[in-house]
Amino acid sequence: MPSKLLRFSTAGSVDDGKSTLIGRLLYDAKALCDDQLEAVTLASQARGDAYVDLALLTDGLRAERAQKSTIDVAYRYFATPRRKFIIADTPGDLPYTGNMITGTSTAELAVILLDARKGVVTQSRRHGFLATLLHTPHLVVAVNKMDLVAYNRQVYEQIVQEYTQFATKLAVQDLVFIPLSALRGDNVVDKSPHMPWYDGPTLLHHLEHVNVGATRNLVDFRFPVQYVIRPHQQFCGFAGQIASGRITPGADVVVLPAGTRSRIKAIVTADGELPEAVAGDSVTLTLEDALDLSRGDMVVRAHNLPLKSHEIDATLCWMSATPCQLHSAYVLQHTTRRINTFVSRLHYRINVDTMHRESADTLHLNDIGRVQLTATQPLWYDNYQMNRVTGSFILIDPTTKHTVAAGMIRGQSRQLDDLIESTSKATTVAVQRRRSSDVTWEVGGVSLAMREQRHGHRAAVLWFTGLSGAGKSTVATMLEQRLFAGGCHTTYLDGDNLRHGLNGDLGFTDADRTENIRRAAEVARLGFTHGTITLCCFISPFQRDRDFARTLIPAGRFLEIFVQCDLDVCMRRDPKGLYARARRGEISHFTGFSSPYEAPQHPDLIVQTDAQSAEESVDMIIAELVRRGILW
Ligand code: ADX
Repeated sequence: MPSKLLRFSTAGSVDDGKSTLIGRLLYDAKALCDDQLEAVTLASQARGDAYVDLALLTDGLRAERAQKSTIDVAYRYFATPRRKFIIADTPGDLPYTGNMITGTSTAELAVILLDARKGVVTQSRRHGFLATLLHTPHLVVAVNKMDLVAYNRQVYEQIVQEYTQFATKLAVQDLVFIPLSALRGDNVVDKSPHMPWYDGPTLLHHLEHVNVGATRNLVDFRFPVQYVIRPHQQFCGFAGQIASGRITPGADVVVLPAGTRSRIKAIVTADGELPEAVAGDSVTLTLEDALDLSRGDMVVRAHNLPLKSHEIDATLCWMSATPCQLHSAYVLQHTTRRINTFVSRLHYRINVDTMHRESADTLHLNDIGRVQLTATQPLWYDNYQMNRVTGSFILIDPTTKHTVAAGMIRGQSRQLDDLIESTSKATTVAVQRRRSSDVTWEVGGVSLAMREQRHGHRAAVLWFTGLSGAGKSTVATMLEQRLFAGGCHTTYLDGDNLRHGLNGDLGFTDADRTENIRRAAEVARLGFTHGTITLCCFISPFQRDRDFARTLIPAGRFLEIFVQCDLDVCMRRDPKGLYARARRGEISHFTGFSSPYEAPQHPDLIVQTDAQSAEESVDMIIAELVRRGILW
């Protein structure tokens, strides 16, 4: 059974027949009231039209809206026995890119209309790009006015071929073409007798059957509070619409930004209490504890927090005739919350027609650019790709109160990824990072912030250093088991293991150990960039080598953990019998015996395995990870 509700948007140039198409859909699907029909018929007659001008249905509506709103998007509701529909009708002319952004940002499907006589024009490409930028999961290219090309199959197929080729550059999940005539009613609701060569669905059939439920985020519970309802002392509820995820009474929750914990007591609606509520439901939540919430707060599950940052990496669509002012104050409206912000960096502008990046000093009306925003208070958000509600925002001019931009959050500011990129140039330490000649740094499509959000924890490198037999592997393996059991993504790197393959050509001279750690640090960095908690167990006896490893990882995410154990204790433990062999002279350069070990001067953490149990060491490390915000 397909989802009951489909939100879709329509985009097309002025004369592509969009209003007529919507009118035709409503008319043929019998979604109009008699008085609306009569009014349109009379208006058409008054204009001397030979046919009922269905465009009047939507154009009239739009004229009304234009008076009231700076964002000119008209919403239309209609229903068939199979499904309910909300159409966001957005004028798609060049000056109105912002409208399309607004209208399409909640749509699950976009209908891109083009004129069969004109074929694929710049605007059609622009609309496709915008829809994919907005992660609209389903695209329909409606090739309209087929009657004016004598329902010619070649004309249609040429358009299909050209647009399909263009779409390979976009990340479109689902692309469907339908030849139709909105004016004549061909393939809109009823199958056209004029195009027997087309064996696909009509537009309405497709809209009724497309499977959209799967694209909703039902995992990450986010509830932005709209109103506090406190009719009397005995009742206090928080009203709003569930942006994503699902919730049940009894669930442990956290209220942001305060971070206060509580539990859902009941889900209240006008029809009584619910056992569960899901994305899209408008409900009132009550909590077990008497907390002081207000509009703009967000209730989330205790073990699934959104990301938090002052610095936001976003794609911004500028919608105002006044260009973007870098470093000037704007109000950022994110869900129900408003905070002050400014555009601190403009990385580039995207040429929507060619999809190339261009350097730019500002953004003008309709420009789309990648920016960094700096907010005066931390924002709790998700990436737009993961969550279209908590991943989007608008910017408001504080003086005029006009909406000047719509934005999609790409992730935490580029800082982290930039840092990773810049560490490739690390030169401040004795050990230099190597790079082949004529290579460039390739930025992947999945950012670290996206990985961290999926994983539910931050990435980090835990570097265990200490003598052979100090207990590095014992503590690290136990820690990894605990993290793994808690749902963390981990990587485990061990000196002995790496020396079986990658570092199998190295021995234990000082130079070989340096090379050993250099390679190990690079592998650890790869683990980090893939969002895992990477546990590294290497004697790593030299401070300069450990310092090098640290330079490859952003600050705060590299923990040098000194596994301290008295040499005598290590010798007594001698788990691999190596100290005995070193004493017999069978192994040279043995650490602590015939090769030095430089104890860390400023480790991030010390665990004393000769004085505390492995469990206690693991507890200490976990507490430190929580303190640093690596684990939540
Ligand atoms: S490191 O000094 O280069 O960091 P690494 O951690 O990779 O050393 O490898 C240490 C492991 O190699 C020890 O746990 C031990 O099992 C084995 N080993 C073999 N020979 C030596 C040696 N001369 N010194 C230390 N460890 C050795």
